[in-house]
Amino acid sequence: MEQGFFITGTDTNVGKTWVTVTLMRYFQALGKTVVGMKPVASGCELIDGKLRNEDALLLQENASVSVGYDLINPFAYQQPVSPHLGDTSNPVDLNKISAVFEVLKQTAEIVLVEGVGGWLVPLNHQGDDVQALAGRLKLPVIMVVAMRLGCINHARLTYQAIVGSGLTCAGWLATCVDPEMQKLDENIQTLQLLINAPLLGIFPYSKTADFKLFVKTIDLMGYIKT
Ligand SMILES: Nc1ncnc2c1ncn2[C@@H]1O[C@H](COP(=O)(O)OP(=O)(O)OP(=O)(O)O)[C@@H](O)[C@H]1O
Ligand SMILES: [Mg+2]
Repeated sequence: MEQGFFITGTDTNVGKTWVTVTLMRYFQALGKTVVGMKPVASGCELIDGKLRNEDALLLQENASVSVGYDLINPFAYQQPVSPHLGDTSNPVDLNKISAVFEVLKQTAEIVLVEGVGGWLVPLNHQGDDVQALAGRLKLPVIMVVAMRLGCINHARLTYQAIVGSGLTCAGWLATCVDPEMQKLDENIQTLQLLINAPLLGIFPYSKTADFKLFVKTIDLMGYIKT
């Protein structure tokens, strides 16, 4: 791995996976090899007797190299609940995630790790949360903000917590999830003033995951190591 990022967001269902896949394609277009990881996923279905998560499968599909599912998603829970309420016989273990991450780091130049839910979601009953996971992997963090009423508060809280944890916020992305949002541009401008990290892209509203459209909005040039 030359470079990695941890993708978090202001909430669950804000566009983290769409952003992660778009960034994978962005780096691939620059000629880099990329893998994506979703270390903890809740909301999985049994396929051929194994728990599989939609996000993790999409990351696996979009990787530059073929990687086994268990390296992408070591902790898969069937129920769509907070991970600490998932299968308690198999609690999230950060040591295991970091060991798997070390293996994944050997497979590609860019490693993108998607969080689960938002920044302070508990992962187990030992006190680990998404923030602790990002800290353990020591990755700069990218924050996804779903543009809807209330997002300024959520974005400020999340940004404050990221910086407060000692990690770097590499930047943030706006996903325009609400086609009726009023004062969208003004909200984005307000966030640019209040978030002391660069705006890396604005995904326009799109009913489908239009990665070709999204990738055109990305500007990460300041972060590319040459
Ligand atoms: N640019 C966009 N335009 C319209 N809708 C969007 C956009 N980005 C995201 N969404 C909506 O948000 C939903 C969730 O996106 P995504 O799966 O990427 O979120 P997530 O944060 O990864 O969710 P989870 O917490 O389940 O991992 C999409 O299915 C879509 O309905
Ligand atoms: Mg997701």
